[in-house]
Amino acid sequence: MINVIGLGYIGLPTALMMASHGLNVVGTDYDEKRVASLNDGTITFQERGLGELYDKSRALGVQFSTVYQETDLYIVSVPTPYDPLSKQVDPSYIVSAVNEILDTCLPDSTIVIESTVSPGTIDRYIRPIVDKKSLQDKVAIHLVHAPERIIPGNMVHELIYNNRTIGADDRAVGERIKSIYEQFCEGEIIVTDIRTAEMTKVVENTYRAVNIGFANELAKICRQAGMDVYEIIRICNQHPRVNILKPGPGVGGHCISVDPWFLVGDYPGLTDIISASMNTNDAMPAYVLRRIHDIMKEKGMTDPSRVGLYGLTYKENVDDCRESPTLQLLECQKKHLAEPLRVYDPFVKYDLVENQYHDFEAFLADTDFVVIMVAHRQLLEKMDLLRGKVVLDTRGVCDLDGVYRL
Ligand SMILES: NC(=O)c1ccc[n+]([C@@H]2O[C@H](COP(=O)([O-])OP(=O)(O)OC[C@H]3O[C@@H](n4cnc5c(N)ncnc54)[C@H](O)[C@@H]3O)[C@@H](O)[C@H]2O)c1
Repeated sequence: MINVIGLGYIGLPTALMMASHGLNVVGTDYDEKRVASLNDGTITFQERGLGELYDKSRALGVQFSTVYQETDLYIVSVPTPYDPLSKQVDPSYIVSAVNEILDTCLPDSTIVIESTVSPGTIDRYIRPIVDKKSLQDKVAIHLVHAPERIIPGNMVHELIYNNRTIGADDRAVGERIKSIYEQFCEGEIIVTDIRTAEMTKVVENTYRAVNIGFANELAKICRQAGMDVYEIIRICNQHPRVNILKPGPGVGGHCISVDPWFLVGDYPGLTDIISASMNTNDAMPAYVLRRIHDIMKEKGMTDPSRVGLYGLTYKENVDDCRESPTLQLLECQKKHLAEPLRVYDPFVKYDLVENQYHDFEAFLADTDFVVIMVAHRQLLEKMDLLRGKVVLDTRGVCDLDGVYRL
């Protein structure tokens, strides 16, 4: 039996994918509400294809519990935030999960860490407690790192088709875990050592963060030069060896806005480019706020209550709002003691912030100036409704006359 620990954005789809392929899976989370909801037949977040996967897994016997199971295979997908001051990874969630596993597991168990960690985290924080237990009880406990690459909005598809990396101390253990992932994963699975697996995951997200930071810097240069950054990037990307990502109002989520900081925290003297890129990205919500101010001035608008932010999530067509640029922008606004701007997001059905609307038409009726923070499908299909309004498009998706860009 596989016990998946942590049933959030990564653990739940992983548990369901494995169970739907006939593996015997119990998902464990210490959040009682989350577990109760899953046992009552309600999945805990919106994601394309997850409902079908859930139904299939339930029919095949997947279980959810708040209790760690006695077994010999665990997959850990608990949060790994960074310490805001040191920027280093905060390993406390994985340490606590592994401690509980060690109290429960059978001899000769394997603990697979799926959570993203900075290179060396497993050696520094996990291996000592595992080795102590192995020595004390004279049992073998194997460590594996299998970082996850899936993206919210396309998780189910990517779980099947992405290539994966598995890091293990022992090649045979790595190959055994690979054979389990191969039951559902059709991508290539590379087996390597644990530190290499840790580093590759963080490097992948850092590459994207630096590329986005570069695009954001280009957006500011093009603004000053009076040029269209999207057209410039579109043409540059025709070059066979150039692939610049899109600029935007900032980055959010649990990966690109977090993982590169691990390297800055661990190698402060060696990470000038990474650090500058992260600071550029983190400064984008404040930049958008300044753009709003400048456009209002240009248009002679004086009432900020007629300005509305479209989108609260950190990316399009998902309901995940963690670290989202809109939340960062509202936070920045708060520091100026300003009344928060109006906000609407079709994916956020509960009250998350002040002045939040749950009806698109009511939101539009109360706003003269719409800031596109997220390019949800709903907006792309109804872009005409913005005709006649002042529009600041931070995503490069609106081609109405007179639209303002980053
Ligand atoms: N969200 C993404 O897009 C994404 C993509 C790739 C990798 N990751 C990585 O995957 C890991 C998990 O991220 P997530 O987005 O799924 O987090 P999440 O916050 O959505 O879910 C984590 C879950 O773990 C539970 N939990 C925490 N500590 C626990 C413990 N000791 N025992 C049992 N349950 C516990 C929480 O209650 C929560 O339900 C992180 O390391 C993240 O960096 C996330």
